[in-house]
Amino acid sequence: MNYRHAFHAGNFADCMKHALLVWLVRALQRKPAAIQVLDSHAGASLYELSSGEAERTGEWRQGIGQLLQQPPAAALAEYLDLVRSMGAPVHYPGSPLLVRAMLRPQDRLTGCELHAEDHATLRALLGSDPRASIHHRDGYQAIQALLPPPGAIRRGLTLIDPPFEQPGEFARIEAAITTARRRFPTGIIAVWYPIKHRAPVRAFHDRLVDAGVADVVTAELLLRPPLDPTRLNGCGLLVATPPFGFETAATGILSAIDSTLGIGQADSLVRRLTPELARS
Ligand SMILES: C[S@@+](CC[C@H](N)C(=O)[O-])C[C@H]1O[C@@H](n2cnc3c(N)ncnc32)[C@H](O)[C@@H]1O
Repeated sequence: MNYRHAFHAGNFADCMKHALLVWLVRALQRKPAAIQVLDSHAGASLYELSSGEAERTGEWRQGIGQLLQQPPAAALAEYLDLVRSMGAPVHYPGSPLLVRAMLRPQDRLTGCELHAEDHATLRALLGSDPRASIHHRDGYQAIQALLPPPGAIRRGLTLIDPPFEQPGEFARIEAAITTARRRFPTGIIAVWYPIKHRAPVRAFHDRLVDAGVADVVTAELLLRPPLDPTRLNGCGLLVATPPFGFETAATGILSAIDSTLGIGQADSLVRRLTPELARS
């Protein structure tokens, strides 16, 4: 396991993923019933942006660094308030810390992280919160083992955010989506994926369509046309069973990030990949 999120924390991809994540969690919390968020690839959860790792790539400067310098667009206001309250731009919170900041007393967070050092940091930061359970285990196995949520929890979100450092990640994600759907049909599934070039992403989408995975929307942000497969040219968040209003909200979030970061890619877009299941 070579991937360390500390090199990339707060970059444009994190900002996009986290702004959408904040919206999704808030959408689930429109109702008072408890929710569970399962973060299958949770990371260390808090990153120092002046650390050697973050400074070596400097990616955060073109991400959260820039977003915090501009007057916030309404679509990003809550996300930016949250990251500021957690120390940005000195520190940047990862997904489990962001989610924890939004939990109500009845809600639960389960975070899985396989890297020993990052797991230790995650546990140190969240392990004492009775609403959080932190596991040193494979996130894909956790989807199989820990869904559906325990007790009376009927609503929730599974975030799948792997490092894409081993071949076959899209195939593992496809299997995880199928498993999560089977074990927790009403749960939302959100999957982050890189866009280096179009072909693997198109193939991923096509396989989900062919497998009959219903009610899927993708939100994609491109920094540049995805022509050079050695670069992270953009990224996407695929959301299965999105809450009402997701497409409109995601369009607003992407366009606020696009315009604040000065990306200017007309290709950034929100698209329905498969239709909703007909309700009887
Ligand atoms: C992209 S980072 C996660 C970032 C985090 N979700 C966030 O948004 O702040 C991916 C993480 O997955 C961890 N990881 C890699 N393979 C894993 C696996 N099979 N199960 C759980 N965690 C894994 C890596 O160590 C890394 O910390």
